[in-house]
Amino acid sequence: MTTEAHLLAKLGRLSAELERLKRSGVTAVPGALDPRWFERLKKAAQIDEAAAKKGAPPAPTPSPVTHASPPVNDTLELIAAEVAGCVACGLAATRTNTVPGEGEPQARLLFVGEAPGADEDAQGRPFVGRAGKLLADMIVAMGLTRERVFIANVLKCRPPGNRDPLPDEVAACEPFLRRQIARIRPDYICALGRISAQALLKTKTPIGQLRGEFHDYHGTPLLATYHPAYLLRNPGEKKEAWKDLQLLMARMGLPVPPQRS
Ligand code: URA
Repeated sequence: MTTEAHLLAKLGRLSAELERLKRSGVTAVPGALDPRWFERLKKAAQIDEAAAKKGAPPAPTPSPVTHASPPVNDTLELIAAEVAGCVACGLAATRTNTVPGEGEPQARLLFVGEAPGADEDAQGRPFVGRAGKLLADMIVAMGLTRERVFIANVLKCRPPGNRDPLPDEVAACEPFLRRQIARIRPDYICALGRISAQALLKTKTPIGQLRGEFHDYHGTPLLATYHPAYLLRNPGEKKEAWKDLQLLMARMGLPVPPQRS
């Protein structure tokens, strides 16, 4: 591991620790840092000092991150490095690779899926299995390419056996997605499937009712549609998903092909 990767991984662990402390009710008030967090920062500084004596550059000081206002120097690379070091939930123990997401850092359109499956866990990349192939076809049908959009997931680690994400896993991972969205600042979000739409919109409304119209995600228009894996199991619903994508294309100002009869 390079020194930089090592420091980023450490920063990731510190950040995950901060999230855990925050969830357990500890808040970091400027000028009055919680003593437990302060102890950890001090320990990290001591390690950095020892590393600096050996000639390594000091690690950046992790700034307490709030979801609503990520630090101005946040980057997708930093988020991915923190994801790689995250042990905030039990999925850290069973994952092969973390899957932070990929694509155009300034994409106009962000797709948000549910969680990595076996193929994604093996490769560390989102939507690379059968559902990924269908998603790529959907993106191309919109006149775009995978490289022009950003693809992320609610969870960055694979739930064993592809079970549904647990509420505490969604909560633990949420800050990463929020920071990615704040960094990319997409014009539109497309939530793929029930888990993604419900997690983003903080609702229990069924996907069948959420799809087909725009919702508001903290000021960004969000359209929910069926998950590609669901469409593989229910090909008859593809025409409904296509209607959703056409809505999105029209709103994005992309040419919408005439309806086939
Ligand atoms: N399904 C998802 O929701 N995400 C992936 O990355 C792959 C399959």
